[in-house]
Amino acid sequence: VAKVERRVAVFGAGYIGLVTGACLAELGHRVAVRDVDPEKVRLLRAGDLPIYEPGLGDMIARNKERLTFTLDLREALDDAEIAYVCVDTPPSASGDADLSRVWSVVTSLEGATHLRTVVMKSTVPVGTGARLRSVLDAAGLGHVGYVANPEFTAEGTAVRDFMRPDRVVIGSADEDTARLVSELHDGVDGPVVVMDVRSAEMVKLASNALLATKISFINEIATLCEKTGADVQEVAHAVGLDHRLGPHFLRPGIGWGGSCFPKDSEALRQLANNTGYHLQLLSAVIEVNNLQKRRAVQKLKDELGSLVGARVALLGLTFKPGTDDMREAPSAVLAGRLLAEGAEVHCWDPMARPAETDPWTATVRHASPELAVEGADAAIIVTEWPQLTEVDWARAASLMRRPVLFDGRNLLDPAEMRALGFTYLGVGRP
Ligand code: UGA
Repeated sequence: VAKVERRVAVFGAGYIGLVTGACLAELGHRVAVRDVDPEKVRLLRAGDLPIYEPGLGDMIARNKERLTFTLDLREALDDAEIAYVCVDTPPSASGDADLSRVWSVVTSLEGATHLRTVVMKSTVPVGTGARLRSVLDAAGLGHVGYVANPEFTAEGTAVRDFMRPDRVVIGSADEDTARLVSELHDGVDGPVVVMDVRSAEMVKLASNALLATKISFINEIATLCEKTGADVQEVAHAVGLDHRLGPHFLRPGIGWGGSCFPKDSEALRQLANNTGYHLQLLSAVIEVNNLQKRRAVQKLKDELGSLVGARVALLGLTFKPGTDDMREAPSAVLAGRLLAEGAEVHCWDPMARPAETDPWTATVRHASPELAVEGADAAIIVTEWPQLTEVDWARAASLMRRPVLFDGRNLLDPAEMRALGFTYLGVGRP
């Protein structure tokens, strides 16, 4: 636990803001989380979570003495020494990150008398820190430091990732500010790496781009495995045993999604374009990912012939298991493509609450995988929820009109599924 209790204001009660706020309180700091959404603040004050994240609810509950939620800017800033910016930076029409929420937080800091530093957790383009410095100076906050502190937490493991990170990156122009924010992390089990602001901003974008590259790479190898009779599961396993390459992010599937990879890879691509340099590798990584989602539907078409009138079950809708997040989920592309081909789409997911928007309004939701596959011509495992390994697949096969199973995450055993009567299609495996 931290040696000195600091007073912290966190702006934004989304995934990042809530995890940051809760973990800083757990480390012994006094934290006020401010959001502009009254419903979110009401829920949090009532002890409910607006999102699903394992361990986060308990952490908030046990720190309620040190952790408050407010709509009121002044209340949050009251005696705050450190202001964390944790608002979202969605893509804008030009493909650049939309920083309007970031600017609105920073301009609201004017007159915060106890403030010593602003910490940027939101993912921002390289160069944002320099622009923010000018805004702070103009607002009479020239004495306030600035730290780029990108976050590397993944949904589903966010609390653990914050408390036991591979690294904490602190980008700062001056030593005192870097020390202040470093010490705020006393009690966090992981190395602190201090660097300049621009480099810290780049670390975040480069890390996510490289992770996305690994996945797109193995997805391309999977496609080639299909064409050559190799098994990508064997290939990925043995490739990953090389310690220089590592076993992680080599799981082939139907493409990456979520609130980070799609947005950050596009933001990095545009950042490069803005400098007049075209990131060729990253552009290919993004294109491979787009193709991967479309290839899934093509595979089904090849198997069933026409999809007109076919009933297709999508099993798992969230962009990955262990979350209720539907942002940029590959399932939306699959559902949209299937509907466009004239199929009827039935879905199951244990957590997702798809919005009442296209394509989900045209699909049918079911309470269990078995109900979703009943009468179906094909089922696609879109998200590898562990519940799907516990399905009585023999019964599922008997309930389907045609037992065609496309295992988009290589979750099940092909031989076993075929023995149960399925036409089994995997990703890159015979
Ligand atoms: C990702 C990064 O992993 C975090 O380090 C980062 O902090 C975060 O983005 C962020 O920028 O905020 P997250 O989006 O929660 O975290 O999810 P991941 O677990 O990385 O998965 C991303 C996507 O890749 C998912 O759709 C997943 O299904 C897919 N994936 C992942 C694969 O298809 N294969 C793999 O081997 C791994």
